[in-house]
Amino acid sequence: MRKLTYFIACSIDGFIGDPNGDASSMLGLLDEEYLEFLKTEYPETIPVHGREALGIQDAENGHFDTLIQGRASYQLALDMGITSPYAHLREYVPSRTLEKSPDPRVEIISEDLVGKVRELKAEEGGLDIYLCGGAQIAGELLDEIDELVIKTYPQVYGAGMPMFGTDFAVTDFALDWVRTFGNGVLVRKYTRKR
Ligand SMILES: NC(=O)c1ccc[n+]([C@@H]2O[C@H](COP(=O)([O-])OP(=O)(O)OC[C@H]3O[C@@H](n4cnc5c(N)ncnc54)[C@H](OP(=O)(O)O)[C@@H]3O)[C@@H](O)[C@H]2O)c1
Repeated sequence: MRKLTYFIACSIDGFIGDPNGDASSMLGLLDEEYLEFLKTEYPETIPVHGREALGIQDAENGHFDTLIQGRASYQLALDMGITSPYAHLREYVPSRTLEKSPDPRVEIISEDLVGKVRELKAEEGGLDIYLCGGAQIAGELLDEIDELVIKTYPQVYGAGMPMFGTDFAVTDFALDWVRTFGNGVLVRKYTRKR
């Protein structure tokens, strides 16, 4: 059984972006030590243009070989003229408005999102599934999430886009590990208690 992992950056107060989802204030925290962690432990979570800038375009996938990215999040890449932002992963974009995929490497999930995710999780072998966000997709898939990797940046937003766009319900997770960095970033990994 492959795991679905929500790997996400957030503020101290748990927002993944400003009220429109913009998380660019976090980019200023990408210093050498923290980038080294991302490059060596989770290079596949860095999009193609970032990998090129860092000179790690050929880095091997460490944890994930498949990506689920909500259409609104994918739109940010499309707006930059990038149609396959995670070409090193199998890319799935849930969307009811994109009738045709803009790229042969990107598969659109137009119906039964949960069923498709269960199908992917049930595949034999391979690496795990990177749930990239945003809030709406994460909220809809909360029951399917097996692990969280939460990168908390030392900033308070006060308001913004929540980690999960869903109704109130308590879901328990166990802490696996914590990494702290000199720039104040904290990365925590959790496994869902079933
Ligand atoms: N901090 C971080 O690490 C991080 C990571 C990722 C994203 N983000 C931010 O998150 C923001 C976007 O989040 P969001 O919550 O607005 O949107 P989202 O979750 O990225 O995408 C929502 C879209 O997914 C499609 N969708 C949702 N449920 C579906 C279903 N059941 N079946 C088929 N398609 C479905 C719809 O697309 P259609 O409208 O096409 O039907 C919907 O508009 C961005 O601004 C981004 O910056 C932050």
